[in-house]
Amino acid sequence: MGSATHTSDAAIARPLVLGIESSCDETAVALVRGDGAIIAQAIASQEAEHAPYGGVVPEIAARAHAERVAPMIAHVMAEAGLSLDEVDAIAATAGPGLIGGVMVGLVSAKALAMAAGKPLLAVNHLEGHALSPRLADAGLGFPYLLLLVSGGHCQILAVEGVGQYRRLATTIDDALGEAFDKTAKLLGLGYPGGPAVERLALQGNPRAVPLPRPLKGSPEPHFSFAGLKSAVMRAVESGAHKPADIAASFQQAAVECLIDRLQFALTRAGPFPALVVAGGVAANQTVRAALEAFAGKNAMRFTAPPLALCTDNAAMIAWAGCERLASEGWTRDGDFAGDPLDFVARPRWPLDASADTVRGAGVKA
Ligand code: KG4
Ligand code: ZN
Repeated sequence: MGSATHTSDAAIARPLVLGIESSCDETAVALVRGDGAIIAQAIASQEAEHAPYGGVVPEIAARAHAERVAPMIAHVMAEAGLSLDEVDAIAATAGPGLIGGVMVGLVSAKALAMAAGKPLLAVNHLEGHALSPRLADAGLGFPYLLLLVSGGHCQILAVEGVGQYRRLATTIDDALGEAFDKTAKLLGLGYPGGPAVERLALQGNPRAVPLPRPLKGSPEPHFSFAGLKSAVMRAVESGAHKPADIAASFQQAAVECLIDRLQFALTRAGPFPALVVAGGVAANQTVRAALEAFAGKNAMRFTAPPLALCTDNAAMIAWAGCERLASEGWTRDGDFAGDPLDFVARPRWPLDASADTVRGAGVKA
């Protein structure tokens, strides 16, 4: 179907979808139209609440979502100057994520859907990340090779269509964003760690500290970052290296692992016309530059969503809803039912249900 959802042909009804995201530490609400226009959005970070604990505390997150989500929905609708009557569907992240927070967003969406008589769309958070590049890049058609790198996930997926995802690789231990966050903690940089490590790395030498590249060259397709994290810990404890050199060397090792695993996936499942990166780590400029060069070498188009769409946001959830409506034959006058109002929030929800569980990766979807 390629970029069909982006055509501005007035004859095609473009759905308006309200999206809610609450799976981690961002409460977000957005109103997105089927042609990719973000009509209004709001995002509230809970960074300040979690910072004293050095990471996200699930109970604090759920309470903060519960306090914020209703006023934020009202704010977004007011900013758009629209009523719920004019919205075509209500989408919310239904998993995977911290279950208390997911339930807050999903229950809010169910209440709105019921009150306004609109279909509910229970969206997989990872699908939101996976399709967000198409919101930013109208020309990006299927299939594409997707690197999804965030705090909770580190996967390579073949995206063949809406709802058609083949997992080619995942992490057997930590996600890359998690490794960035832990490195930041070890270096005393605070939370969230990714941007802080990236900033410090700018002043360091990426070749100064010898660090491992776990699973580089392995005949298994997966990622591993636990050994790299331990090596960073030993480097910090040795006192022999400048923090900036450790940050830069860590980032270099991580990037080399990403490229090696992507090469493996491409050799095994390729070719693909495009390489796409999504998830919070996609905000990292060194990662982006390496991926762009890799794509160029392999004659692939390269797409990375703008920074605000890389980290958790609600526009990607509303957009995933738009994509679903387009692929499932929705029309404004039709009888599209959406998902049932008793859809249960899912702490785990793999995008590719047929993918094997890998060693040590039980907690990663
Ligand atoms: O996608 P996201 O907002 O939330 C999850 O679903 O996990 O990703 C957050 C992750 C965090 O681990 C954060 O440290 C990392 O993305 N991150 C970065 C950068 N910005 C955010 N990692 C490296 N460099 C960055 N600039
Ligand atoms: Zn995310």
